[in-house]
Amino acid sequence: MQINPWASTQYEDYTRLRDEFGIEEFSIEGLPNPQKLFRRGVIFGHRGFSDILNAIRNNKPFAILTGLMPSGKMHIGNKMVIDQVMYFQELGADITIAVADIESYGTRGVPLEKGEKVAIEEYIINYIALGLKPERCEIYFQSKREPVKDLAYLLSKKINLSEMRAIYGFEDSANMTHIFSPLVQVGDILHVQLERYGGPRPTLVPVGVDQDPHIRLTRNVAFGYRLYNVSKTKDDRIGVFIKVDENVAELLQKAQEVAKGLGFNDFEMIEKYKALYINDAQEADIARIDYELIPLELNYKGYGFYQPSATFHRFMSGLNGGKMSSSVPESSIFLTDTPEEGKKKVMKCKTGGRVSVEEQKKLGGIPEECVVYELFLYHLIEKDEDLEKIFNDCKSGVQMCGQCKTRAAEQIETFLKDLQEKREEARDSLKDYLKYD
Ligand code: TRP
Ligand code: SF4
Repeated sequence: MQINPWASTQYEDYTRLRDEFGIEEFSIEGLPNPQKLFRRGVIFGHRGFSDILNAIRNNKPFAILTGLMPSGKMHIGNKMVIDQVMYFQELGADITIAVADIESYGTRGVPLEKGEKVAIEEYIINYIALGLKPERCEIYFQSKREPVKDLAYLLSKKINLSEMRAIYGFEDSANMTHIFSPLVQVGDILHVQLERYGGPRPTLVPVGVDQDPHIRLTRNVAFGYRLYNVSKTKDDRIGVFIKVDENVAELLQKAQEVAKGLGFNDFEMIEKYKALYINDAQEADIARIDYELIPLELNYKGYGFYQPSATFHRFMSGLNGGKMSSSVPESSIFLTDTPEEGKKKVMKCKTGGRVSVEEQKKLGGIPEECVVYELFLYHLIEKDEDLEKIFNDCKSGVQMCGQCKTRAAEQIETFLKDLQEKREEARDSLKDYLKYD
């Protein structure tokens, strides 16, 4: 099985996806005031999230980097990423958002000028209207940020064609802009750790699970460029190993100083193995040691990239039960739909109701298969108790689909009306977000 980020696959079995690709199960433990998408299991998996949790706990800087594909209208499913971004913004993260205009050109043939327009009108204006703050937040275009493109080119040195094929399944007929676009995404994700964009720090990429191939690729590349590797050996010792051949003695010496600073004092340094064993360290100390070593690498021609972390969210179903897709207007509520349109769409949405009212009273509805319920869960209901009540009232046959739909439809109507107004003001503050270099 392969995940194809450009196909319109509808994923069903998230547990299987997780197991098959080694994505870890997400838990909200330790997360301050988790936003509803986290509490409700919509964020179902992660890679390396503990680095972000540690940063939050220890009040250390961390970055959020995510991207948008400017190829169609923004729908309510696309809103999930920005909800998460705003949550982390509140927790003190600095925010960078990539407009994937190169990817959109390379994979869907959208000209760059059109990509820019779509990004602004459909996405960015809505992000602002939804409440994204301009402080420590910037939105840039892949095609206009030279360091991103440079990294895409330079970091490709450690990626070969067979790896690209194994991850993405490219055929011989694939055009080179398409093949190159994931490398630009690697550039997106890692460039925020360049000195000019804030320097090395843990970075979280909140995305849908379809983006996991890019995350795997980027994590591999970031690790490939590390100078140090801290790990447990076969005989259960914790060692710091030098992955390059230059400055080995000095790198080992510096590592020992860092480890001393962290309170360790039982060392064995074996230069010909390029190794420093820390005998009084445990496996649980690895991350902490590594965290301190990374910045040193900048002094030795390394990039000092922390491996980026990622969280993965599930996808909301389309209104008709299939996939929500910007190319199928009936399947989606677009943020630029008029309030009336939005309301109408909800009234037509697939429910988990029974064939007749009598039957529903007797058997109850099936919220697990109901798009209206998904609207509540993902977007419309803030309090968990209120959501639980809807669930229970549905199951027990107390609540009928008509009234339930009306409630959701009216909420969507209000939401869209409010957003419409906020978009008007949003336009004036665009310049506080957009960065053209
Ligand atoms: N590939 C992403 C998409 O299809 C967009 C994207 C580009 C992105 N660069 C990114 C997402 C960096 C996360 C991080 O939606
Ligand atoms: Fe869905 Fe509400 Fe009908 Fe239950 S009652 S199936 S939640 S619309």
